[in-house]
Amino acid sequence: MCGIVGYVGHSTGQVNIEHKALDVVLEGLRRLEYRGYDSAGIAVVADGAIESRKKSGKLSNLIGELEGNPLPESMTGIGHTRWATHGGPTDQNAHPHLSDGGKLALIHNGIIENFAELKLELLNEGVTFISETDTEVAAALLGHIYRNQLGGDNSNGGLTKAMQLACQRLEGAFTLLAVHADQPDVVVAARRNSPLVVGLGEGENFLGSDVSGFIDYTRRAVELGQDQIVTITADSVEITDFFGAPAEGKEYHVDWDPASAEKGGYPSFMEKEIHDQPDAVAQTLLGRSDLEGKLTLDEMRIDPELLKHINKIIVLACGTSAYAGQVAKYAIERWCRIATEVELSHEFRYRDPIVDENTLVVSISQSGETMDTLMAVRYAKEQGAKTISICNTNGSTIPRESDAVLYTHAGPEIAVASTKAFLAQITAAYLLGLYLAQLRGNMFQGEIKDVLADLGKIPAKIQEILDHEDRIKDLGVEMANAKSVLFLGRHVGFPVAMEGALKLKELAYIHAEGFAAGELKHGPIALIEEGQPVFVIVPSPRGRDSLHAKVVSNIQEVRARGAKTIVIAEEGDEAVKAYAEHVFYIPPTPTLLAPLLSTVPLQIFALALASAKGYDVDQPRNLAKSVTVE
Ligand code: M6R
Repeated sequence: MCGIVGYVGHSTGQVNIEHKALDVVLEGLRRLEYRGYDSAGIAVVADGAIESRKKSGKLSNLIGELEGNPLPESMTGIGHTRWATHGGPTDQNAHPHLSDGGKLALIHNGIIENFAELKLELLNEGVTFISETDTEVAAALLGHIYRNQLGGDNSNGGLTKAMQLACQRLEGAFTLLAVHADQPDVVVAARRNSPLVVGLGEGENFLGSDVSGFIDYTRRAVELGQDQIVTITADSVEITDFFGAPAEGKEYHVDWDPASAEKGGYPSFMEKEIHDQPDAVAQTLLGRSDLEGKLTLDEMRIDPELLKHINKIIVLACGTSAYAGQVAKYAIERWCRIATEVELSHEFRYRDPIVDENTLVVSISQSGETMDTLMAVRYAKEQGAKTISICNTNGSTIPRESDAVLYTHAGPEIAVASTKAFLAQITAAYLLGLYLAQLRGNMFQGEIKDVLADLGKIPAKIQEILDHEDRIKDLGVEMANAKSVLFLGRHVGFPVAMEGALKLKELAYIHAEGFAAGELKHGPIALIEEGQPVFVIVPSPRGRDSLHAKVVSNIQEVRARGAKTIVIAEEGDEAVKAYAEHVFYIPPTPTLLAPLLSTVPLQIFALALASAKGYDVDQPRNLAKSVTVE
């Protein structure tokens, strides 16, 4: 969850670069702040000593602190932005944590599961602690090994050797970055079950929780494997395992453009990302089919023969990504006739699920680092399942550990509330469904081509909704004092309703629930009282079955009990007008594709309502973009 940055450059004058550790690390933290914003801290090595500053609250508090109490110039530094796990978000619990008499500084992402036992051991050795964190225990252990076990001898590996020995003792999930005053030109890092990427520069090297930590300086990145340690200097990158054996990382090119990680003139990343959606869907479709509608998913590294024999699909994901999976279930079952379950990753492996070599597990994750999903994928692999990852982040852990990956090309999503990733995930899952249908002969090529043609029209239709966003924005502002909002939908509209409710909960901190419209009469209708706002996602009246009529009846049921109904319906659907306080029309599209449109007004509504309340829509309270703890 936390954001981590490391940097080593040449001392001024040695090569033609002008970067200073403080600037590089602060810029990286600014880009990584979406990962956690409970506190931030930085340490540099200067004049044979460690200097550090840390502050609770957002990065701006640390910057304020640095203005009053500047750090010395340095070419080696580490920085951290925290999402608190052990110990509250205080100055004292903020990272870096120091040890070895203040000569060593360490930052950490993850959870050290055996910290209590290690702490006791170190207390018995006379080590003292000032914070409540597991990180300080890791710092103390590393310092103790460096000084007491290795005698502070840098000729024998120094900090790198100490890190290897420390990691052999640590249990849990962690990325660690450390600097030592006696090795001023080195940053040593380790990773287990937690993300870490190396950025390769000319006369400088970088570390980051993800590539946004150094994207302003280099596009060359190296993926680290599980249980690896990396030592960077200005000119070298050396990787080993936890026992010192040399290891290799995989270099790749980062195709994100730094400008696309900026707000592009919008007041928030979330607003920009909502407006990125036509492009996100178009990019995800790009290059994946030919003119005849034949899908060629190059990343699909699973033997097509094996895919022909799967008899069950399990979609694993959390939060918004799980709702994308729930939408995709309708399409995959319809197109491929394969039973498809959608399960929250954190529930999956604790219920003894029925998984075998004929099961295809499809994980969906924007970040590719969600620990719950990663663990569920690993479990599924152990049971023999084939695993495909739908992911937005190149080189992240879940796609790396899966048999195949279908990248969404939504570009970096920075706002904590997921928007464009959701639409791109549905698009990618649909491509996967069509690909399986093509492979297994469940659909004629012409039918696949027709669906692809309809998908191709989606970006322009999203743009049409965005071009008329003012009305829904106004409603958001008007409803800023709402205490509770309900969302109803049927069929693919049901996960859309839940996604609409989630957006409102996480951004505006008000009670919101999404229900299957048919479920209402089984209990939730008791919540309806005079003036209760209820959003209803109405399916197309052109559908083959009676879904539309059923949902219109559901609107009448809540209205009769005093609800204020706000309806999302297809253009030309006059029937709903009589039952709605407000109607927002979306362009006509086939039922299965409608979520790619009906979600958009709900995102805009939540954004406008939360903004009207004065909340930070990019960094809502208590949340983090990438949830790398279980
Ligand atoms: O990175 P992931 O897609 O795996 O993240 C899953 C959820 O944590 C994420 O979708 C979360 O629910 C968002 N805050 C929703 O807006």
